[in-house]
Amino acid sequence: MSRQRHFPRFTREEHGLAGDDRLESPTFLRNAPPIIATLSAYLRDRTGPVLEIGAGTGQHAAAFALAFPSIDWIASDPLATHRDSIEAWAKALLDAPRAPIALDAAGDWSRLPEVAALGPLTGIYAGNVTHIAPWAVTEGVLTGAAAALAPSGRLFLYGPFREGDEFFGDGNRRFDQALRADDPHWGLRDIDALRLAARARHLRLETVHPMPANNHLLVFRRSSS
Ligand SMILES: C[S@@+](CC[C@H](N)C(=O)[O-])C[C@H]1O[C@@H](n2cnc3c(N)ncnc32)[C@H](O)[C@@H]1O
Repeated sequence: MSRQRHFPRFTREEHGLAGDDRLESPTFLRNAPPIIATLSAYLRDRTGPVLEIGAGTGQHAAAFALAFPSIDWIASDPLATHRDSIEAWAKALLDAPRAPIALDAAGDWSRLPEVAALGPLTGIYAGNVTHIAPWAVTEGVLTGAAAALAPSGRLFLYGPFREGDEFFGDGNRRFDQALRADDPHWGLRDIDALRLAARARHLRLETVHPMPANNHLLVFRRSSS
C-alpha cells in the first residue's frame, strides 16, 4: 500500500548487520564527527543525563557516550527494532550500556517514569527527527524539553532546516518536496517557526550552528537562565 520513499525507520533487510540486532545508518560516519565537535563546546565539561530522542540505529548515541564520558547518555526511540539496535550498539561499544527508553515525542514524554527518574536533564538531543515526523512531534519535543531540562540545560536539534521559504541549497529544497510528497505532515522545519514555538514554552533559540551538507544544529535554552 505504502508509496512512501523516505522512511523514518531503519529495517533489518536494508540496514541490518548480519547476526545481531545492530542496524547501520548510511549517514552516521559522515555526520557524527562534526556533530560531536559542535556539541563538545556545550557538553565537554558537563555531567548529568542527556536524553536522545529518535535515536534510530543507536550509533550516534554510542558515539556520543564515548565522546562525552562524564555525561550519562540515554537514548530513546518509539520503535522496538530501533531500541534493539541501540541496545546492541551500546553493548558492543560501551562499558556501562544504558537501556534505551520507549519514547514517543508526540506524547507527554517528560512524565514517563523512566524519564522522570533521570531527574533534571543536562541536555536533550534529537537528530534528523523534526523533518520526518509531524509538526506535533516537534511541538512535543519542545514541550517536554521545557518540562524536563535543568535550568542550565540545553535542547539540541540537528538536521536539515529552512528559513521561511528559503532553503539552504537546492538539495534541501528537493528533499523537502520529496518528504511532503511522501507525507504532507513531514517537511523541513522553519527556524523562525521553531524559535516562536520554543519562545511560547519559555525556551530561547540561543545559537544556530551551520553544519556540513547544509544541515544545522540548533541550540535552545530556558529563557529565564
Ligand atoms: C531519520 S531517523 C534519525 C535517526 C537518528 N537520530 C539519526 O540521526 O540517524 C528518524 C528517527 O525519528 C524517530 N521518530 C519518528 N517519530 C518519532 C516520534 N513521534 N517520537 C520520537 N521519535 C520519533 C524514528 O523512529 C527514527 O529513529
